[in-house]
Amino acid sequence: MLERRPENMERIATPEQAKAYIEEQLAALRAQIGDKKVLLALSGGVDSSVVAALLIKAIGKQLVCVHVNHGLLRKGEPEQVIQVFRDEMDANLIYVDAVDRFLDKLAGVTDPEQKRMIIGKEFIDVFAEEAHKLEGIEFLAQGTIWPDILESEAGIKAHHNAGGLPEDLNFELVEPVRILFKDEVRVVGKELGLPDNMVYRQPFPGPGLGVRCPGAITRDRLEAVRESDAILREEFAAAGLEGKVWQYFTVVPDFKSTGVKDGKRTFDWPCIIRAINTTDVMEVTVEHLPDEMIDRLVQRITTEVQGINRVLYDYTPKPPATVEYE
Ligand code: XMP
Repeated sequence: MLERRPENMERIATPEQAKAYIEEQLAALRAQIGDKKVLLALSGGVDSSVVAALLIKAIGKQLVCVHVNHGLLRKGEPEQVIQVFRDEMDANLIYVDAVDRFLDKLAGVTDPEQKRMIIGKEFIDVFAEEAHKLEGIEFLAQGTIWPDILESEAGIKAHHNAGGLPEDLNFELVEPVRILFKDEVRVVGKELGLPDNMVYRQPFPGPGLGVRCPGAITRDRLEAVRESDAILREEFAAAGLEGKVWQYFTVVPDFKSTGVKDGKRTFDWPCIIRAINTTDVMEVTVEHLPDEMIDRLVQRITTEVQGINRVLYDYTPKPPATVEYE
């Protein structure tokens, strides 16, 4: 398996190139792994999904996927991971429902950095617990991609591998998309038969919806984020904007305002819509939506989402605002 992307490697852009890469990787994976077992944290994101699909093809049930549902995933995501990998690809998938565990640990925690820390640490703990229950695992698969290596070498960000697994989990790494750029991972994923909404997913932060539920996370407000996000994604898809706008999501801040419904006073949260475009995420511009689309979003979100009586649109570029709220 190559450690570094060859200088002269052609950018993978066509199904034929993807096919050739897949064949090469299948042979390399089988040679590296033999009859041993491999563990993979499968989030459902593009990189880990493509790694899973490659390994399922190469070694089938010798791959053990662990999907941790921390309660901060988007609507339908855990279900899709189970459907695609367990039902359709017949993978060896362990689904861990850790929703209560995460939300209990996060209850009352308002500091954004502390929230991130709890989510990160808890994830490693859950994953390590699952790993300890398994026997005979010798390899850990990771969705490391080439920009991760370049950025960590340039000192821009620490390479977020498995997030610092405990030392006693002494695995050899398997990184079958390590020399690929993101767009190439998508082409390979498509060729492997993964669904479009998995392959062309927008970026999604590790702490998930937790950073879009500012302040102390409560189950009802988190649900309002999840439901409004699902409506936003539906409307973007219906308007043909899926894959065209770089990132779009909703945020439900921790304050309430007065409203009126059916002649009665309400006191509910606002829902903030954010839709942005960028190339490098260092600088970001705001996507301006057609008035009719905004009207429809306001109508749907205020009627379909429990606890929302106002919809706001965030027109702030980055800088001065970051993309996420925490
Ligand atoms: P910010 O908020 O820093 O976001 O302007 C820039 C991009 O990075 C994503 N993001 C994250 N991705 N883990 C991730 O994997 C994180 O903790 C995280 N925080 C922000 C964000 O969604 C945006 O695309």
